[in-house]
Amino acid sequence: MRGEICIFVRNVMFTFDKSGNMIDFTLFPSPCYITEEELLRKNLHLIHTVKERTGVEIILAFKSFAGWHFFPIFREYIEHAAASSPYETRLAWEELGSKAYTYSPAYTEKDFPEIIRCSSHITFNSLSQFYRFYAKTIGSNISCGIRINPEYSEVKTELYNPSAPGTRFGVTCDLLPGKLPQGLEGFHCHCHCESSSYELERTLEHIEKKFSRWFPQLKWLNLGGGHLITRQDYDTEHLITLLQELKKRYPHLHIILEPGSAFTWETGVLASEVIDIVENGGIKTAILNVSFTCHMPDCLEMPYQPAVRGARSDSNGPYAYRLGGNSCLSGDYMGMWSFDRELQPGERIIFEDMIHYTTVKTTMFNGVPHPAIALWTKEGKAKIYREFTYKDYRERMG
Ligand SMILES: Cc1ncc(COP(=O)(O)O)c(C=O)c1O
Repeated sequence: MRGEICIFVRNVMFTFDKSGNMIDFTLFPSPCYITEEELLRKNLHLIHTVKERTGVEIILAFKSFAGWHFFPIFREYIEHAAASSPYETRLAWEELGSKAYTYSPAYTEKDFPEIIRCSSHITFNSLSQFYRFYAKTIGSNISCGIRINPEYSEVKTELYNPSAPGTRFGVTCDLLPGKLPQGLEGFHCHCHCESSSYELERTLEHIEKKFSRWFPQLKWLNLGGGHLITRQDYDTEHLITLLQELKKRYPHLHIILEPGSAFTWETGVLASEVIDIVENGGIKTAILNVSFTCHMPDCLEMPYQPAVRGARSDSNGPYAYRLGGNSCLSGDYMGMWSFDRELQPGERIIFEDMIHYTTVKTTMFNGVPHPAIALWTKEGKAKIYREFTYKDYRERMG
């Protein structure tokens, strides 16, 4: 949505979608996560094109987005999802209509029957997990694999680096037996995060150097997520060439990518509202009807300051504000943003790019109301999928 046309007339924001339809935020409940159908389809189309041109399978990682109301749109472009838990595998089977490609850091005896019921592929994180559970999959038409750790990653943020020293993810090459155990048909490697095709190229060199000796024993190679194919500066042609060459080197291997963020990257917003303005020590804070910790947790976790439509991320000018959440956490604020006007209670504050990960990581901490979930259709209509009530809060507690 970033870069969309946005104008102000007497402090009221008018903003337009790709087709030039005026998005009327008053048609949506407040607060609300709003996905724009045209932007979602644009991403899906690009991902589908990469798949068609390379013969590589690209599936949606549910951990980044699990909005099942949107699955009929996804189904026009992709067939499968990557799941990381029994609930995600069930969602794939029951709502996307296809069995999941499942990887979890550790399966339990209690969860495994559900994992088997709803998966077509199961990746184990360790050889001990493989030896413990493989026998249970026999006869169920499931292809099993193991997560490998190439001991190489260019991810700078430790919190998101799956290959950091001491990582709990994957088996290093020194631990794999020369002849893989019977039933082990695939390798799974995830060591990217919002990465480029060039990072993938360098990572592939490490993967091949350390693990290609086992490739003749395999049927598939899953290169995980973190491929930010839909970011504006992503070199899609380079990715396509890379994948075509990889396929040429190992024609017997079915190659899989399971990005998450790339699917819903810059496809929607969190629309919120100013409730009050307070001032302390010369700092003005606009208190909103949303919370960073509950509704945009990555901002505090990463941390990063999100873009706000019609505002600049600085404290220059007379109308500079912190934006504060409506929870009691002292650090539930971010700032500063500069506006071209004085903010008033009741006006909308639109946080850009708040769909991937954000919508799956929310909480009801403090009992703060959860934003509704909606779609701005390609025809320019507001479709409200879900509003949350006290009942949702109460039922999570017992
Ligand atoms: C195993 C695995 N696959 C796929 C993904 C999706 O990654 P992204 O959303 O960065 O594309 C992740 C993210 O953590 C992951 O851990």
